[in-house]
Amino acid sequence: MSITIKDLTENKVWLAPLAGITDNSFRSICKECGADVVVSEMISADGLLHNRDRSLEYARFDDEQRPYGIQLFGSDPEVFKNAVKIALTKKPDFIDINMGCPVKKVIKHSAGSALMTEPDVAAEIVSVTKKILIPHNIPLSVKFRSGWDMFSINSLEFGRNMQNAGADMICLHPRTRGQMFSGKSNWDLITELKKEVSIPVIGNGDIITINDMIAMYERTGCDSVMIGRGVIGKPWFFTQIQSYLSSGDIRQITTEEKLKIINRHMELMISNKGERQAIFEMRTHFSHYTKGLRGSAHIRNRINKLHETDKILLLVEELFKANKI
Ligand SMILES: Cc1cc2nc3c(=O)[nH]c(=O)nc-3n(C[C@H](O)[C@H](O)[C@H](O)COP(=O)(O)O)c2cc1C
Repeated sequence: MSITIKDLTENKVWLAPLAGITDNSFRSICKECGADVVVSEMISADGLLHNRDRSLEYARFDDEQRPYGIQLFGSDPEVFKNAVKIALTKKPDFIDINMGCPVKKVIKHSAGSALMTEPDVAAEIVSVTKKILIPHNIPLSVKFRSGWDMFSINSLEFGRNMQNAGADMICLHPRTRGQMFSGKSNWDLITELKKEVSIPVIGNGDIITINDMIAMYERTGCDSVMIGRGVIGKPWFFTQIQSYLSSGDIRQITTEEKLKIINRHMELMISNKGERQAIFEMRTHFSHYTKGLRGSAHIRNRINKLHETDKILLLVEELFKANKI
């Protein structure tokens, strides 16, 4: 049975696509902690055509993660036609198009947030993608920013265009490309977008606490929320959210629970990539898990020199217990 748009957008908590973070293991751990909807890291549409197997690796996922979306970036509607077909071989529940990425290596190819300056091309990409998805009954979402810079904020018009071109749902991270990740996201633009379009709107940007999430829903009227940096090194934030949504209480996650999640993350990484690669890739995550803890710099240095999973996990445990968190 295919996933409905309601399944994806009715008061759902999304894990944001995060390049370098939301790989198969991190998505699994977030799902186990309580994320409702997860998305792949951004995958190049051109890459899917020219380096198919390597690009599809980023789209690998386990069935338990469903509903799961594949996010594509690119700038050529013709390329999208073929790239989407290749992405569909992985059988995702939806396709998401990245029109918000601000990084140079993406925008220099007129992709990501650069598409906000080319609304006709953006609409064409959505339209050709939608045509391919319709027979498969697979929804399409578009994720974008408030605009290119403070002089060209166009998220309302852009969102309306995306809806008219065939998007089934849209996600707004209301910062301009020029802002990158600085300052605060302007949630008022989400409120206005929600009034502007009839398709579901997913609110994104600066949700770090449960109160932020409540405020995002209340202030913007968005249909669902998406969380990125708030769960990096803290996938148990999803556990807290689900517990709040079911009981109304904000509960603390114990040290034991956190350690269990970190151990599980390591276990998933090993099963996905083998121990050697897992130890290497988990260094980034350990640095997030231990950020701000007393003595963490020293422990991170030691972790980065170790090649045995047990020793690494023991160090993390010692650090967490020493910090009594
Ligand atoms: C490390 C990192 C990687 C990101 N990678 C992607 C990506 O691949 N695709 C995308 O659409 N957005 C990406 N983003 C943007 C996030 O999905 C999200 O829109 C942004 O971080 C704002 O949400 P937050 O305040 O909850 O983090 C990335 C952000 C960060 C910090």
